[in-house]
Amino acid sequence: MKKKGIKYVIKKGNEFYPSDEMKKIANITDAKIYEKANKDPVKFWGDLAKKGLTWEKDWNETYTEKLPYFQWFKGGKLNFSVNCVDRHLANPNKTALIWIPEPKDEKPIKISYGELYDKINKFANVLKSYGIKKGDIVSIYLPMIPEALISMLACTRIGAIHSVVFSAFSAEALKARIEDGKAKILITSDGYYRRGKPENLFKKAKQAAKKTTIQKIIVAKRTGTKTRGRNVLDFNEEIEKASSYCKPEIMNSEDTMFLLYTSGTTGKPKGIIHDTGGYAAQAYWTSKWNFDLHPEDTMWCTADIGWVTGHTYGMYGPLLVGATSLIYEGGPNFPNPGRWWKIIQDHKVNVFYTAPTAIRMFMKAPQKWITKYDLSSLKVLGSVGEPIDKESWMWYFRTVGGSRCPIIDTWWQTETGGTLINTIPGIGPFVPTVSGKSFPGTRHSIVDDEGRPTPKGKPGFLVQKSPFAPGMLHGVFNNHKKYVDTYWKKFKTMYDTSDGAYLQNGLIRITGRTDDVMKVAGHRLATAEVENAIHDNKKVDDVAVVPMPDEIRGQVPMAFVVLKKGKPSKKLEQELRKYVDIKIGPTARPKRIFFVSDIPKTRSGKIMRRILKALLINEKPKGLMTLVNPESVDEVKRIINSNS
Ligand code: WTA
Repeated sequence: MKKKGIKYVIKKGNEFYPSDEMKKIANITDAKIYEKANKDPVKFWGDLAKKGLTWEKDWNETYTEKLPYFQWFKGGKLNFSVNCVDRHLANPNKTALIWIPEPKDEKPIKISYGELYDKINKFANVLKSYGIKKGDIVSIYLPMIPEALISMLACTRIGAIHSVVFSAFSAEALKARIEDGKAKILITSDGYYRRGKPENLFKKAKQAAKKTTIQKIIVAKRTGTKTRGRNVLDFNEEIEKASSYCKPEIMNSEDTMFLLYTSGTTGKPKGIIHDTGGYAAQAYWTSKWNFDLHPEDTMWCTADIGWVTGHTYGMYGPLLVGATSLIYEGGPNFPNPGRWWKIIQDHKVNVFYTAPTAIRMFMKAPQKWITKYDLSSLKVLGSVGEPIDKESWMWYFRTVGGSRCPIIDTWWQTETGGTLINTIPGIGPFVPTVSGKSFPGTRHSIVDDEGRPTPKGKPGFLVQKSPFAPGMLHGVFNNHKKYVDTYWKKFKTMYDTSDGAYLQNGLIRITGRTDDVMKVAGHRLATAEVENAIHDNKKVDDVAVVPMPDEIRGQVPMAFVVLKKGKPSKKLEQELRKYVDIKIGPTARPKRIFFVSDIPKTRSGKIMRRILKALLINEKPKGLMTLVNPESVDEVKRIINSNS
């Protein structure tokens, strides 16, 4: 029989608040924490970092700032893998990771903290034996399999910098990231299962590594696909040969721990730099307070490790807290829409964290696939990646959470390292579509073009104020100018998030990006990146890409192409769409490509995306006077209409 589960929230008007049951168990329940933290954020974070992490040496200065750079816990020393694993070894049999393979006839695998410790130490020794040392960059191109976690943690054990690349990205996208970081080792797998089929990952990895700095490719076996080649090593064979203890490299708090490439407004993704101590402090405390994660909990964050959410809450946050993390290899609704919900039931997941795009997809599925499972283990539900609309919020709340669980709408970015704006489960209120307050000890403001706070409730730019959160980026890899231009040029002393927001009863509501970044099924992509990819094709003379609203994916890229040669045809449209797969990956593939003879532009040659966006949703475009080629608008309109 289905169990009802504990009621963690109560309703008051249109808002939800933590119930007494929630308050009894929550890691934090006192709303005064915001005020207390704000009095002296630096001291506040200093106390938290001391309490939450294991340090080898205390720091001399909690926070120093010389904008646009700032440092946390300077002089402090620690090792990240010790914080994630070694310090939990009092109970070595406790499960650290549950891995669910996609094929249903394969059994889930549980890895204890003791086993994880063993594997990390050995794999760290493998990396060392191939010359990897502190500060070297290691490229990781892995699907959702345990080796991903082992590889990442092994890097942190020896102070190597990991740079994880999303496994659905193309060989060319991987190559560009390898080249930027000059990685010597690439860790990948032969493949993975997706929607019942083995996907070949090795082929892409090998192609990407050609003529780069990569000296060795270490391959985890998953699908049994052949992986031959010079300098190709087998992950497990290497681990078996390695000795079982690797002394952790003691790192400075502000030493770089990882790079993660993300899209901005230009065509080239930038390597976001994250440090060790500050990142760890924010990952630990946000997991504990925002998700109310306890060591006895199982957390499932559905994000791929190729994205920051997968890094911080799919792996590191749960381990820092000493909890259990669950990861799943495959398609969310494979072989049927019940897959995710059965996993929650079977593994008694307590904290579930996903994206609005998935919520919208399941909302449209036959509901019996969700309601037939016992989801009473759930305690906290999280949402991330894009604004969540009211209907999806309510569906998530009722159908998944059984009207029992708080929904934490977490706003953050690759750059912020961890969640920063949301409601805390033990404090509330939980209001549909509203993210909430800045995490204690962090400060955000909503400002106008000049950096002045907007009048109450008026929309503006979301900025972060000093002292900047400990998990914040430490620059853009090899590109100081891009770091300054992207985050500090507009508001000088305030970090520019590139998001719009407004206040609703003192709580922050995010309205979305104010730049040319799209969120496609939760994945971050720049319009310019997709434009560059298409532009590389010899047949293309000019191209514009804009996002169009989509019921499930949130946004989808749409392209307008002026041809250099060849005639517009369905076949050519398919050819160019596939071309984007090769350049970036299927995530970036435009939904449609319209062939036009001219693209609406300003006198200075800037694409007028606003006009294209309006035309796509059948709205009357404004500001045609600024165009150098107003006649192009009628043609674009005609072509969209005749193709829809
Ligand atoms: C958007 C993902 C509204 C936002 C962690 C941000 C959100 C971008 C939310 C970062 C939210 C993230 N509500 N919008 N709760 N969370 N965003 O780097 O536009 O992949 O700037 O990091 O996602 O995307 P990224």
